[in-house]
Amino acid sequence: MPVVTFHKGEGTFVEEVPDQANLVVRAGIRKYPWPHLRYGCGMGKCAKCACRVIGGAEHLPAPNWKEEKQLGGRIAEGYRLVCQIWLTHDVSLVQDDVPLPPRGV
Ligand code: FES
Repeated sequence: MPVVTFHKGEGTFVEEVPDQANLVVRAGIRKYPWPHLRYGCGMGKCAKCACRVIGGAEHLPAPNWKEEKQLGGRIAEGYRLVCQIWLTHDVSLVQDDVPLPPRGV
């Protein structure tokens, strides 16, 4: 099962999650990484869930069209929309204190 390391502000939160877990879905039912993960729509439209991947990016699928649309060049900086990712391997994430602005609908 994937181990998620989640950095937010001064905190680091580590927990094992089930295979194919989606962190926004989990936060929605108040499981880790709730209450630390900021998120909104759960559908790739608001960018509130954007996190920078600092470990394990090689195991993630390529960004989908919603991530391309919302994140643009920030994908090259390591940002992903975690609502669009179902985890199968360990990953380390950082969520900025200030959300990225959405790039439009
Ligand atoms: S929660 Fe809105 S884009 Fe991920």
